[in-house]
Amino acid sequence: MMRSRVLITGVTGFSGPYLAEFLLKQGLEVWGTGLPSQEGNLSPGVILRHADINRIDQILDLLEECRPESIYHLAAQSSVGRSWQEPAETMRVNLEGSINLLEALRKINKACRVLLVGSGEEYGPVSQDELPINESRRPDPKNPYSLSKFFQSMIGLQYFNNYKMDIYLARAFNHTGPGQGRGFVVPDFASQIAAIEAEQQEPVIRVGNLAARRDFSDVRDVARAYWSIMEEGTPGVIYNVGSGRAIAIQEILDYLLYLSPVKIKVEIDPDKFRPVDVPVLYGDISRLRADTNWRPEIPLEKTLKDTLEYWRKK
Ligand code: GDD
Repeated sequence: MMRSRVLITGVTGFSGPYLAEFLLKQGLEVWGTGLPSQEGNLSPGVILRHADINRIDQILDLLEECRPESIYHLAAQSSVGRSWQEPAETMRVNLEGSINLLEALRKINKACRVLLVGSGEEYGPVSQDELPINESRRPDPKNPYSLSKFFQSMIGLQYFNNYKMDIYLARAFNHTGPGQGRGFVVPDFASQIAAIEAEQQEPVIRVGNLAARRDFSDVRDVARAYWSIMEEGTPGVIYNVGSGRAIAIQEILDYLLYLSPVKIKVEIDPDKFRPVDVPVLYGDISRLRADTNWRPEIPLEKTLKDTLEYWRKK
């Protein structure tokens, strides 16, 4: 029997390699496309092609060749921090890139499920009584990144409604783990601690806003959730993906420092603050729990330990 074929865009990014590995274990034929500079962590089982998400001709060629039954669209500019510096580029990749993919798919006219990955950041600031945030809360994006992801989900719903395409929608809260690049809080902290332990940096860690509270999951749990949504979820319905609880960035810092034998001084760096930072975000994940068999499995302590270990080896 022919194996079911999936395509992961952004397969060389942070979540891509984890999702690829998981799907290969399910017995699927996994194709991927991503930036050539980041192939390091990728399983050799993945059939890799280079196509720029911002070039619809290249995406069309890829879809013609691959003819996938499902697509996990992970290709994105995923950093909120960077989106303040590069708003237009963020829109170009996250919005135009998603449109290119959906248009190309529409043109080849092949039945195919698509997962679009949105962000818990789309909700923006909410009042205390709206926490944990459920999917019916009206989004109020407060930075270029979350705006691009909100637009993406709206575009996805248009393709679902107007063309009856099988669009699945995840709205993921923070996820981290080994392999995530600098520019996100956990790797920013863990990489500095590892550098300090290796005596490549004075024993001072520079950090930004520690008061923010976010909903952190392990990337491996999140990759599994994407699959569960595609297998068991309903198209056209948005699913929060998270842990369902909030942790302060201060607590993450404290735990990572506790894992280190070295005494490290904390220095607040005003340059690491954003013009606007949502104070608290955590999601209500009851819809995902009700519609799928997915449950989070990896405790945050393990995620943080594994991530620090990754940076020590690096
Ligand atoms: N990056 C970073 N670096 N953030 C810091 C630092 C630091 O040194 N110090 C404090 N922070 C604070 C940020 O101000 C923010 O409040 C929080 O830590 C988390 O920042 P990030 O890890 O950069 O992630 P994010 O919450 O902005 O966005 C992540 O989660 C979204 C879903 O909620 C990303 O993974 C997005 O792609 C994802 O959509």
